[in-house]
Amino acid sequence: MIFKLKIIAFIAISNSLTEVLTLNILAIFPLAVKSHFFVFAPYLNELANRGHNVTVISFYPQIKSSANYHDIDLSENLMPIEVNHPVSKSLFTVFLSLTIVHAIVGPFTCRILMEDENVQKLRETQVKFDLAIVEQFNSDCGLALAHVLKTPVIGMTSHTPMPWHYSRFGIPYNPSYIPFDFLEGGTHTTLFQRIRRIILYNYVNFVNHYITQVLEQNVVDEFFNDIPPLSELAQNIKLVLIYQHFMLSGSAILPPNIIEVGGYHVAKPNPLPDDLQRFIDESEHGVIYISFGSLLKPSTIPLEILKEIISALSELPQRVIWKWNKKSLPGNPKNIYLSKWLPQNDILTHPKVLVFYSHCGLLGTTEAIYNGVPVLGMPIYGDQPTNAAAIEQSGLGVQLNFDLLTKDYLLEKLKTVLDPKFRERVKLLSKAWHDRPIKAMDSAVFWTEFAARHHNLTFRSPTINVPLYQYFCLDVLFVLFLLFVGIIIGLKYLFSFLVKGIRNKYSKNLSISEKNVKVD
Ligand SMILES: *[C@@H]1O[C@H](CO)[C@@H](O)[C@H](O)[C@H]1NC(C)=O
Ligand SMILES: *[C@@H]1O[C@H](CO)[C@@H](O)[C@H](O)[C@H]1NC(C)=O
Repeated sequence: MIFKLKIIAFIAISNSLTEVLTLNILAIFPLAVKSHFFVFAPYLNELANRGHNVTVISFYPQIKSSANYHDIDLSENLMPIEVNHPVSKSLFTVFLSLTIVHAIVGPFTCRILMEDENVQKLRETQVKFDLAIVEQFNSDCGLALAHVLKTPVIGMTSHTPMPWHYSRFGIPYNPSYIPFDFLEGGTHTTLFQRIRRIILYNYVNFVNHYITQVLEQNVVDEFFNDIPPLSELAQNIKLVLIYQHFMLSGSAILPPNIIEVGGYHVAKPNPLPDDLQRFIDESEHGVIYISFGSLLKPSTIPLEILKEIISALSELPQRVIWKWNKKSLPGNPKNIYLSKWLPQNDILTHPKVLVFYSHCGLLGTTEAIYNGVPVLGMPIYGDQPTNAAAIEQSGLGVQLNFDLLTKDYLLEKLKTVLDPKFRERVKLLSKAWHDRPIKAMDSAVFWTEFAARHHNLTFRSPTINVPLYQYFCLDVLFVLFLLFVGIIIGLKYLFSFLVKGIRNKYSKNLSISEKNVKVD
């Protein structure tokens, strides 16, 4: 009770310290990828619920319209394509998809954004916004729009940092221990993994800098005059809300204006549909939940591997719920409940759900730690390898290599995460995940309002303005090296001078004594 009173008093004080203001906010999310927008939607809705006037440019207009939330719907110009990724791993695909997403899709959506009638109207009427929220992924065109509208900007991601975010926001990058999206290894790497990281890191940065930004700069220059380089606008971003949390992704070195808000997307659970509720309730030994997300098509799993998975599952007493995109599985196993769509978070909330067998998307991973459900991770592409490594290192689960999948291998991994001791530890982890000074959503909203309140100030890391040769102290090392060489040469001369002096004196004495000898 006293505790509660204290909190109320604290809230009252903090409210009186910070003026309450309603903001006119422009949110620019021109990316046609559902799993990204799923992260942003609850936050944008929350801003509107708290009284801010939010205008959202995206491909995903709201289904139920609410006051204060206004859509600028880009899908009127182009219906987003539902991309499906086969369940197979290849480094070549990683290179190819990174190149396509950044060098082609980025500039392409940039043009769709710029050409949109309603976006052009914003510019013509010069609507005054207090703040722009711009997704930090494969396009920086939103920054040009915010610049034209003279609006301060905060950034937002639905994942851990992309390779160019490190230099852009002054986050230290070191391949030896900093996990790299798209590649395996987590924080404990082999030499081979570090070599791959360095190559891909530089490749992606090259594509971003010399292809994406150059093409996009051309597009924005068609529509606006005097736009500064997009890279410069990017560096002026006030702060970035990043969708990760150290309890899962591990301790990272982040400047204070890069703020971890991981976890806010998880909604209050809804009741399960009757048949699912019964299926779980009536399971004697609990349930294994399987989902490979919205982008991977599970039916593309090669038949021989699929058979291994099914026969492993049939050896366990648990029931199985599987998000599966076809009507049936080979052999029609009786203990498996299939559905094309499943209320994932509501399922994970059920205490009888013991394991989440997952591709390690960030949303599902977050829901797993939120609900304290151990994860068996099978990463395929995108940021899944990083997430899988994080899951293993945090103790939330274990991962398996899809390329090596056999029945026995899968059974061994499943038994590891089904162990009650393992689950106990995951429950501890989940407890710590919820134990925060302020809820993730409150934190995201607070820093958004903070950026608007203090729009005249900059919080960016000084690293951004330090040239590379200074960052690595190359100039200092060079001067010290010269000094060292100078001292060595100096000492050498001094030494040989002294030696000469002594020798001269000695040989003089010697010749005198020789003379003496002769005289004698
Ligand atoms: C809220 O946003 C809408 C759409 O952008 C705009 O028409 C309206 O003027 C805004 N209201 C305020 C109070 O800024
Ligand atoms: C703060 O920024 C606004 C424009 O964004 C400007 O009009 C104002 O003069 C600035 N205030 C100070 C104290 O620099």
